[in-house]
Amino acid sequence: MKETALTKSLGKQDSLVWEEEEGRATLILTFTLWNEKKAGFSKAAKIFEAFETKIHHLESRQAKKSKNTVDDLEFFVKCEVHNSDASALINSLKRVAEDVKAHREDKVPWFPKKVRDLDKCHHLITKYEPDLDHGHPGYTDPEYRKRRAFFTDLSFSYREGDPLPRVEYSAQETATWREVYRNDCCHELLGHVPMLADKEFAQFSQDIGLASLGSLDADIEKLSTLYWFTIEFGLCKQNGSIKAYGAGLLSSYGELKYALSNKPEYKPFDPEVTAVHPYQDQTFQPVYFIAENFEDAKAKLQSYALKIQKPFTLRYDPFTCSIEVLNTLQKVKTTLKQMKEDLKNLCFALENIS
Ligand SMILES: [Fe+2]
Repeated sequence: MKETALTKSLGKQDSLVWEEEEGRATLILTFTLWNEKKAGFSKAAKIFEAFETKIHHLESRQAKKSKNTVDDLEFFVKCEVHNSDASALINSLKRVAEDVKAHREDKVPWFPKKVRDLDKCHHLITKYEPDLDHGHPGYTDPEYRKRRAFFTDLSFSYREGDPLPRVEYSAQETATWREVYRNDCCHELLGHVPMLADKEFAQFSQDIGLASLGSLDADIEKLSTLYWFTIEFGLCKQNGSIKAYGAGLLSSYGELKYALSNKPEYKPFDPEVTAVHPYQDQTFQPVYFIAENFEDAKAKLQSYALKIQKPFTLRYDPFTCSIEVLNTLQKVKTTLKQMKEDLKNLCFALENIS
């Protein structure tokens, strides 16, 4: 993406970012049509047609500053025209529409940058939901579904910083949870918690999360597959033997034995291959990926993450517990300054030791 001389000729208000390929430019435009029923959009549409514009996205909504009726509409258009026609297209639109503006495309999509932002995320359960999934044991139990809906509502309405809601559990529920806690509740406690207490491992897990932020859906899909074959079912070599580090293995005696039995297929951990390997969650894994050692897995994952195409770089700031987008020179310089200070400190430490 780059700005052209044309950008400058359009003036400050029309400041644009162009995606240029073979002379084509992408424009983000908004304009208002008063009393749209009087064929306003058909005039605008003819202009787009005359310039052989390829429309990528078109949206309309009721105008914020309505003059007449509900027929006053605002339009958002993402379109592609020949570079040399862009200016003329905008000027022609100005003759039939009001408030024509060209916008800078937001290069950094929205994603949660701090814990509180998670409250803005859409809560969507698509799998194993008793209201939708016939295979769920609670599907035919209206009482269970009602109680579950109560808990779901409670957790979805919770906002970061709110006091934790108190729930009055029935005697039957307490007895059920006692049974669960003593027997099948070990995946998180035995599998994830001890591993995440290890700094190296926690960083590995965080690297996958960071790589996913602002990425395309296809890349997120690959990262979730990588998560599956590492954080959940990863194996690595250590002192000549194969060890499990995945939580799904550490918390399942049966699968752990099977994973180390030479019965399944073993493949070397290579993020490019692992990320697109199909997996299932119904039975033991038929394939496990083995890293040369955990450091190797971490290094390979980091170089894989660097190859994910994004026009910005992210960094986790431990002081503010938030994600920082390094998309300006100033931000990069500030981060570099902090790193130099850290490096100076490390050099002193090294001098002291030696
Ligand atoms: Fe897990």
